[in-house]
Amino acid sequence: MADSGLPLHERVAQAVETAIASGRYRAGERLPTHRQLAQQLSVSIGSVTRAIDALSSRGVVRGETGRGTFVLAQAGGEADDGIVDLSTNAPPPVIAPHRMTEASELANRNALALANGGYIDLSGTDRQRGVVAGWLTATRTPLGTDEILLCNGAQQGLHLAFAALRERSTIILTESATFPGAIAAAANLGMTMIPVTHDGEGMEPAALDAALANTGAKTLYLTPVAQNPLGFETGPERRRAIAALVERHDAMIVEDDIYGFYAAKGTLTFRQLMPERVVYISSLSKSLTPLIRLGVIAPPARLMGTIRKRMRAEGWGLPPYVAELGAAMIETGLADEAVVALRAEALARLELTRSILGIGAVPMPGGTPHLFLPMAPIKAEQFARRASEAGVRLTPPSAGQVGEAPVAGLRICIMAPRSRATLERALRILAGIFESEEEVAV
Ligand SMILES: Cc1ncc(COP(=O)(O)O)c(C=O)c1O
Repeated sequence: MADSGLPLHERVAQAVETAIASGRYRAGERLPTHRQLAQQLSVSIGSVTRAIDALSSRGVVRGETGRGTFVLAQAGGEADDGIVDLSTNAPPPVIAPHRMTEASELANRNALALANGGYIDLSGTDRQRGVVAGWLTATRTPLGTDEILLCNGAQQGLHLAFAALRERSTIILTESATFPGAIAAAANLGMTMIPVTHDGEGMEPAALDAALANTGAKTLYLTPVAQNPLGFETGPERRRAIAALVERHDAMIVEDDIYGFYAAKGTLTFRQLMPERVVYISSLSKSLTPLIRLGVIAPPARLMGTIRKRMRAEGWGLPPYVAELGAAMIETGLADEAVVALRAEALARLELTRSILGIGAVPMPGGTPHLFLPMAPIKAEQFARRASEAGVRLTPPSAGQVGEAPVAGLRICIMAPRSRATLERALRILAGIFESEEEVAV
């Protein structure tokens, strides 16, 4: 087993899953007993038991009392129609049921002790916000308990941020392709997104300078780590250049840091650089699980009141029990484990993808949840259609389009399948389409 820095049981789980992916154990087959696996892998039976629990929670195997542990036929968790979904940016489940039980027990105790029987402010109690802020401080960027509000996923965070900034200008600058949920939030508020030319690190400073001068925009929407769908990461130097322009033009940044835990170019955030000009957004949906949709918004102090009022008026926030469950998942160490496991998984899947599709340099070689394959817009749309006919669902490139120019490439969400085996099957189908297209071109 590779010494990846993962907990031992997670490495055992990966070793077993790799054996399944490589075809050593096939769907429907019984795995060796826990004792045999422990001997083969030179680990304790306890580690094997935890590993098998984790694999069973991911839908890779199923234990049958008295009979053993079997490899599931749908080990990849494909939809019932056999389609593999590479269009959703969802992390594979990495939470073992016993860890979830532990977290729920803590959440139950804390939730039942909440004031007013839990009929409380939906932006989170001091304790809940303290736990989440502490975790984000330890893992990503410094945030105080009173500087954040909990919300219903990053999606609500984006909607609240855009709404709070709308009175300054209804124009939002972003890249030529961006997260469809952000496009939807802007449209819902009657705001217009305008694209700014980017390179492999994000918006080009000269183009941004001109756009800020010419459009009257006062808001930028940026996803500096693992930009969705373009896949790049903005390094500290570019961040400083963008921040200087934002300052000069008296603008603001909505920093969507939902993929921040994949950062490989250091820890500097826009929020750290200019807290008064940034509405920082994050969420546990990608770093832990979308099951609780725990979002975080950290606005500058002067916007806090407006955002709270809007949340209160809309009554659209995170239910108190869910906030407790999220806090408990952090307090019991589950969130830390998930981040380590997901980073390692993203790297392994990236390498698998690069080797099967023959991809050379990528903007985030240390691991990324999605890859962007540049290609002519018409080809990208055709490719997505052909993939869908062949059983692999890809996002239509037009879903993320900002401005007039069609998106010149395709996004592949490599974390979406439950197992690497299913990802591999889907990638081989995509490689086949690439090959057949090349033949046609010749
Ligand atoms: C860049 C980006 N921001 C925000 C979201 C929404 O996150 P949440 O599930 O927390 O609402 C997503 C989900 O795909 C995303 O890719």
